[in-house]
Amino acid sequence: MHILTIIGARPQFIKAAVLSRYIRNNPQLDVKETIIHTGQHYDQNMSDIFFTEMDIPQPDYNLHIGSGSHGKMTGLMLEKIEALLLELKPDAVLVYGDTNSTLAGALAASKLHIPVAHVEAGLRSYMMVMPEEQNRRLTDHLSTWLFCPTDTAIDNLKKEGIISTGGLPSADNKTVCKTGDIMYDASLYYRQKNIPLQIPSNFILLTIHRAENTDDPVRLKSIVNAVNSLSESKFIFPVHPRTKKILTEHGLDFGKHVTLIDPVGYLEMLKYEEACVAVLTDSGGVQKEAFFFQKPCITMRDTTEWVELVSSGWNTLTGADTGKIISAIGNIHTPENYPQLYGDGHTAEKIMKVLLCQY
Ligand code: UD1
Ligand code: UDP
Repeated sequence: MHILTIIGARPQFIKAAVLSRYIRNNPQLDVKETIIHTGQHYDQNMSDIFFTEMDIPQPDYNLHIGSGSHGKMTGLMLEKIEALLLELKPDAVLVYGDTNSTLAGALAASKLHIPVAHVEAGLRSYMMVMPEEQNRRLTDHLSTWLFCPTDTAIDNLKKEGIISTGGLPSADNKTVCKTGDIMYDASLYYRQKNIPLQIPSNFILLTIHRAENTDDPVRLKSIVNAVNSLSESKFIFPVHPRTKKILTEHGLDFGKHVTLIDPVGYLEMLKYEEACVAVLTDSGGVQKEAFFFQKPCITMRDTTEWVELVSSGWNTLTGADTGKIISAIGNIHTPENYPQLYGDGHTAEKIMKVLLCQY
């Protein structure tokens, strides 16, 4: 089987690392993987570092799309991916998550009748204003194989009429299955890697990058005010380049209790997640990683796709409300129950089994 993997943004490198390693470690599967990097993320610490430290094969092709408006980025990707698909004729295209690279890959493949496998299918925030919600909904509808991390994801798809139908796999005859969360597999494997690093103690790990917070000056200011008011806590904040740019544009500064650092590699990020007392974030992936390390998480969003974290008490949603963020940090507690929400760490194996049986 020839699988063509399309990735472009930081969390996709992390997810793809797991499946890619599984394919390489199991030559008897007789799977050939070709990796296309769209170039959506391109800074050394947003891209190269992940390939190097996570041992991901260098992409076979880099489309060097770079930054731009949504339409421009997605359109350029579509054109370049289509040309490569026509040349390479893979048996399936594999896409991850909900970025513009995900949608461009799924759309280019489906127009050419190449079946699409979507890893992290079925997630919904039910907020179509989010670029991620648009990307993931469209991708799910275009996909042939929908690999869902949770039961909620399966139910979300059912509500949209997306169910397993059997028959020859195609975008009309879909296979929907629960495989667990590939990011859980990643965290289990890479947390064992030791890197020499002095990590302070007693701090809250902070990340902010989602468009709904960074592109809305009122929300961004409200978040900055909350963090600045919490001057009795220490924060470590690896700043996404998008956020860095916007903070500078608006002249927003943090107090001395907030240590701003450049984006870090995944291995370093895992160390921060392991060492912190809690996580304050708007990231999808970081919400789950907080849970993987049994750290309480406060999510600065109005909704989350990872609803089971909220219902189990591990995640608190505050939106960008200054008062709610301050009060949630004041009420940080670790729930007694630690349910197994994201599978057994064998997501990659389950995905490959389905693909190899059905293609
Ligand atoms: C994208 C995804 C988002 C995901 C995030 C992961 C979309 C629509 N959004 O958001 O779902 O959570 O990746 O991190 O696909 N920039 C750099 N260097 C880089 C990359 C980006 O400077 O290597 C800056 C540029 O100013 C760029 C901005 O960040 O315009 C935003 O980048 P973009 O890829 O458009 O969206 P993200 O916010 O990274
Ligand atoms: N991450 C990282 N370095 C950082 C910030 C995040 O390696 O400086 C990792 C994080 O551990 C998680 C993934 O990037 O695995 C999450 O990506 P991000 O928050 O950018 O996007 P989202 O998950 O919200 O789409």
